Amino acid sequence: MTTNSEIALNKYIAHAGYCSRRVATDLIKNGKVRINGIQVKTPFTLVKATDLVTVENNPITPEKKIYILLNKPKNVICTVADENNRKTITDLFAGVFKERLYPIGRLDRSTTGLIIMTNDGDLTQRLAHPKYEVPKMYQVTSETSIAKSVIETLLQGVPLEDGFMKVDEAGYPTSSKKIVNVTIHSGKNHIVRRLFEELGHPDIKLDRFSYAGLTKEKLRTGEWRHLTTQEVAALYQYEEKELVKEPKKINRAKKYYARLG
Ligand code: URA
Repeated sequence: MTTNSEIALNKYIAHAGYCSRRVATDLIKNGKVRINGIQVKTPFTLVKATDLVTVENNPITPEKKIYILLNKPKNVICTVADENNRKTITDLFAGVFKERLYPIGRLDRSTTGLIIMTNDGDLTQRLAHPKYEVPKMYQVTSETSIAKSVIETLLQGVPLEDGFMKVDEAGYPTSSKKIVNVTIHSGKNHIVRRLFEELGHPDIKLDRFSYAGLTKEKLRTGEWRHLTTQEVAALYQYEEKELVKEPKKINRAKKYYARLG
């Protein structure tokens, strides 16, 4: 925001990393927001760089947006704080950024792989929302062989307690029957583990090797990098119900995993 530009109040609060734009809209409507000490209840009120905005009496300072692609290691949980003192995903960035980063979506504690960390509430809300159908690719490794019929059932659909679920793609990336790659756009909790458990594989190892077209090439477990401006722009281009696919990149990721297998 430059000194002369103006921005809608709900957007300003979301951009500051305080919360999503939708939550900001509710806070404004509920009378929790003030501009220069005056209560404002219209979410689209324009804010200037020189205005002082407070939400529930907390001053809001617009902060630089940070977008990190992390290859999450095992034994790290995707919450901001854990009451049992287990290692959290934000612990991995302790002392690195002054901005408060949080993950877009979640991976289980024992799942490794790609997750985006950001302070951009708008992008978080967008990518985490089921209507944007962000494709996620997982490599599943089982102790026992995974039958072809399991793959077929995954593609046809499996009844789970919270509804019928099918994957977008599934197949063996190598000659091993113990490894299966799946592409799924659902972000429901434990979705891949629940599908495999239902089909007789309760103890799988899970690694997310592609998220929204981004791959973990050159990113070893535990490593992270900043997203490029182009990558962030591409993430913002997800349209409702339309997959923005990057087949070249995804095929590269598949080959990379086939080599590892
Ligand atoms: N599905 C799962 O079961 N676990 C994850 O961590 C991600 C997707």
